[in-house]
Amino acid sequence: MTQPASLPHHIAIVMDGNGRWATQRYLPRVAGHKQGVESLRRCVRASVERGIAVLTVFAFSSENWNRPAEEVSGLMELLAVALGREVPQLQADGVRLHFVGDRTRLSRKVSAGLAQAELATAHNGRLTLNVCFNYGGRWDIAQAAARLAAQGRPITESSLDRAMSMAHVPDPDLLIRTGGEQRISNFLLWQAAYSELYFSERLWPDFDEAALDGAIAAFGRRERRFGATSGPVETQQLPQVA
Ligand code: FPP
Repeated sequence: MTQPASLPHHIAIVMDGNGRWATQRYLPRVAGHKQGVESLRRCVRASVERGIAVLTVFAFSSENWNRPAEEVSGLMELLAVALGREVPQLQADGVRLHFVGDRTRLSRKVSAGLAQAELATAHNGRLTLNVCFNYGGRWDIAQAAARLAAQGRPITESSLDRAMSMAHVPDPDLLIRTGGEQRISNFLLWQAAYSELYFSERLWPDFDEAALDGAIAAFGRRERRFGATSGPVETQQLPQVA
């Protein structure tokens, strides 16, 4: 396969549109999330094949607790089932799993499942898959600051960066949101400062390999300046001040 000139090292995805996908088919919303897991599996495999080093996905936000109880328990159940079912394939593909988010509100069973899956895949090095679960960007910044304050350490950009829950990977190069909405929705607020944003009209269950390739190709056409100018930086001739 030909690779675009510039392949993103780290791709982050807001997997939006599961509910609408299900509603369009007169199915319960949880059926959309189930199909979303299939789409995620496809995307993980495609990322491994394309040489992406880090994939971070938003699976459950801090705000998702406000959804109907049936949908929340359905998502918890899906996570438990997906863990049991997917870990062997993730192992075979060399995927290292990390769960990012506040675990204090998760049941002991779900929490233990996450820890077990992380331990089982800890030696894998082909792709790091961060699953953000009960995660919010504001939560992350606040927990990092609280931790530093509790340790009596100064709060600086670099100390906060190291205390953040995504400190084990570099910031995302490309942030994709499916489902047609164009917002960040409290995802990776700190880490996405210089990410290239890519919005797709496709609902997450319909986001296939070709759609991922389209996003990667669009990334390859972007010019990243990180706040600098596009050409070589010219030394400005300042007028002499008397
Ligand atoms: C947003 O779609 C999607 C979610 C809140 C859940 C994303 C979860 C998955 C893709 C499944 C993977 C999950 C696990 C547990 C590994 P939405 O429900 O907001 O869709 P809508 O905007 O169409 O209503």
